Amino acid sequence: MFPRGRKLLLGVAGGISAYKSCDLLRRLQDEGFIVDVVPTQASLNFIGKATWEALSGRKVITDLWSNVENVPHISMAKENDLIVIAPATADLIAKLASGRADDLLTNIVLASTSTKFLVPAMHPEMWSNPATIENVETLKRRGFVVVQPDEGRMTGSDVGIGRYPESSRIISEIYFHTDLVADLKGYKIIVTAGGTREPIDPVRFIGNRSSGKQGFAIAAAAASRGADVHLISANTELPFIEGITITKVETAEQMAEVLKVEFPHSNALIMSAAVADAKVKKFEKNKISKEELGNLELEKNQDILKQLAITKQKNQLVVGFAAETTSDLKELQERAIKKLEGKSLDLIFVNDVSNGAVFGSNNTKGLIIDSQQNITEVPEISKETLSDILLDKLVATLELIND
Ligand code: CTP
Repeated sequence: MFPRGRKLLLGVAGGISAYKSCDLLRRLQDEGFIVDVVPTQASLNFIGKATWEALSGRKVITDLWSNVENVPHISMAKENDLIVIAPATADLIAKLASGRADDLLTNIVLASTSTKFLVPAMHPEMWSNPATIENVETLKRRGFVVVQPDEGRMTGSDVGIGRYPESSRIISEIYFHTDLVADLKGYKIIVTAGGTREPIDPVRFIGNRSSGKQGFAIAAAAASRGADVHLISANTELPFIEGITITKVETAEQMAEVLKVEFPHSNALIMSAAVADAKVKKFEKNKISKEELGNLELEKNQDILKQLAITKQKNQLVVGFAAETTSDLKELQERAIKKLEGKSLDLIFVNDVSNGAVFGSNNTKGLIIDSQQNITEVPEISKETLSDILLDKLVATLELIND
């Protein structure tokens, strides 16, 4: 699976309270969700497609017969982590209860295995009608989460149960019924990924084997936990992650320049990029002949992480990575602690990259060490899982220092 932030599909049925879903969409985006809106034809009488496209920043498809070549009802059913239908009208609830699929939204719902939330909104008489009650019970039995409507004034003068609830309550219910978290909401996290390339001449460079997979996985995981993520990517070929800011760089110097501007406004820097340790003293505009290659003079690149960590404020954290070529755990640990202390880091992940392990792979293993030198041994796991373990540790410390 490609790394990405969390995705949610917002279905909108044809009720007057469809306008309240504009606010819900905004609040869901604040929580770090990338939201695809699927309005029913009837709902377009209340809120048009242009509004949904402008608010979601994404193309909106309203019928089964658009983009047929991409089979949107199946791809959208698979791509989204959860479906929220708000408002869910009595008619839509009846359709879903009978398993019908005669438009894009009902097709997606039928094809989806993800958690589905219904936010019913209708007049009290319709909500308390035995047909609706039975349909709601049927859907609950099938695993739909039904958010209880609020009590209060309706569109006309009548009062009762059936009002569209506050966005905050819908969002609380989403967190209550899923394992999703938003513990990085309000934090700005910078992640670096990939490997810098230091040009020698127009065709050659000093580089390394970093694929960027670990950094991209961390960026996606942080975004899906609600963080405002800025990914600085050096020479990677990985697909773009929706919902985050990406700056592409080539050299260590370019990476350092971006970080110099961005780091002071961030809560944490996760430096997973492999920064080339050296560059040529003099870049040659014309290709160097092979006879002259032996005369190349190198100089050390600045240690970006070390320089930034010196400037870090009390409420900021810096996380480093170390790639070592030793399988001896004790040695791995000693080297990591030396880097942790030498670079004033709050956390380091060290792995053994002997024999080409880890670089380019989807898995990793190693040790996590914090500034108190607590050591967590990480067995072979996916880079996505490591991302969440690192972020769990980061969140705990961020909460302490931002109290
Ligand atoms: N790093 C950096 N700038 C550099 C080199 C490394 O910011 N010029 C960062 C990396 O992104 C990583 C951490 O420092 O998070 C550790 O990198 P590593 O190359 O293992 O550390 P070094 O101190 O350069 O150790 P070594 O002598 O083993 O290369």
